[in-house]
Amino acid sequence: MKNILVVGGGGREHAIIMKLAESRHVGKIYCAPGNGGISKYAECFNVGATDIEGILKLAKELKPDMVVVAPDDPLVLGMVDALQAEGFMTFGPKKNAAIIEGSKVFSKDLMKKYNIPTAKYEVFTDSESAIAYIKSEDAYPTVIKADGLALGKGVILAQNEQEAVTAVHEMIDELKFGKSSATVVVEEFLTGPEVSILSFTDGKTVVPMISSMDHKRANDNDEGLNTGGMGTVAPNPYYTDEIAKECMEKIFVPTVNAMNSEGRTFEGCLYFGLMLTPKGPKVIEYNCRFGDPETQVVLPLLDSDLYEIFEAIYNHTLNSLDIKWKTGSCACVVMASGGYPLSYPKGIEIKGLDEKGQIDGCEVYHAGTKFEGEKFLTNGGRVLGITAHGLTLQGALDKAYDGVRKINWDNVHYRKDIGQRALKAVDSDTLHLDYKDDMEDYIEENGVYLRQ
Ligand code: AMP
Ligand code: GLY
Repeated sequence: MKNILVVGGGGREHAIIMKLAESRHVGKIYCAPGNGGISKYAECFNVGATDIEGILKLAKELKPDMVVVAPDDPLVLGMVDALQAEGFMTFGPKKNAAIIEGSKVFSKDLMKKYNIPTAKYEVFTDSESAIAYIKSEDAYPTVIKADGLALGKGVILAQNEQEAVTAVHEMIDELKFGKSSATVVVEEFLTGPEVSILSFTDGKTVVPMISSMDHKRANDNDEGLNTGGMGTVAPNPYYTDEIAKECMEKIFVPTVNAMNSEGRTFEGCLYFGLMLTPKGPKVIEYNCRFGDPETQVVLPLLDSDLYEIFEAIYNHTLNSLDIKWKTGSCACVVMASGGYPLSYPKGIEIKGLDEKGQIDGCEVYHAGTKFEGEKFLTNGGRVLGITAHGLTLQGALDKAYDGVRKINWDNVHYRKDIGQRALKAVDSDTLHLDYKDDMEDYIEENGVYLRQ
């Protein structure tokens, strides 16, 4: 049996661990730093996810058969390179490939060079030229992005010239996101439904996973501040087979080939943040890792052995696998601390969870919790992701919200409208409706079969 060390400590890592635990190859799972919920399924170690020296030391002690590096920062910092240099089998891209997320300038220039569809843009390192360009374009909203990682906050959608000028000054002159915003990308504003596509790739083969839809704003009706993601559904009904084919030809394969041509072969999970614009699908962003909370709805639908996939990526034999998916839909509702994404208290008791941090009928992925004194306490902005699988999207959402209603803490915040936009978009032709065996279970559980 293979023992695995997973680096990270959020809902995404919890979902990865639960899927690895299903593998017939996997023995013990370790996690650093993990969280309260993860600690019920993996032995957790108090080493920070960006602490390369600390993780190396831990790996040397634990001698895992594989180390999975899940978050962006350690990947961009080169944790995989450091682990490989010590002979560990790893999952995740090396530093020279993680730059696809680590630098927006790199990714935009890559797309331009290899004709991969994306928003028109220019790069600036001084505010005067940036502002002159914004004025000459005179098109609002306009988009201003910090070049480097900024905890998901480095994108400003400016509604008018004044907002744009303020954003440019804050980023370039006041270094609002530190040196991440010393260079900015000014980009054309695109419209259309957003789709997240996570993919497995070993640099030779790219296998897109089931599509998903994130809900980035803090409040219902897509109002409020941008967050790391308040909920997800999969599959994304806007992502038809026809669009999938177009994305494969114009975006996925060209991106993997472009990285090879640059001598930066990408091995791991390559995330395509797409916008389906009236002029076709375009790349909004690349991430060098699994999305959060996309992973919480995508991996439960995976019907193949995740460890075998990770191993095949490491060995560059991904083409030999036939990766299978379950039918039906998944929905994840994030329960957050009141105040998130700004300031919020920690250490509040979460009520309604069983001793493993779970509830009946759902999979509870812990994002920011700790287990102390036999209780689960809040320990972050996003606290839990309540995930359910259903025969239909409506079924999955009903189950997930039933779960949400069983859990409570002081000042909890969650969106009540996760999946509503997707439900409106559902086109019965694009959904898998040949459920066969699942159908009987579904009717038994829900009394009715809702065809969307
Ligand atoms: P990111 O942090 O890159 O995921 O961007 C955050 C969000 O900003 C995206 O999910 C989009 O909703 C939005 N966004 C980014 N770039 C653009 C663009 N060029 N046009 C319109 N919206 C954008
Ligand atoms: N949910 C968006 C991300 O993982 O970047």
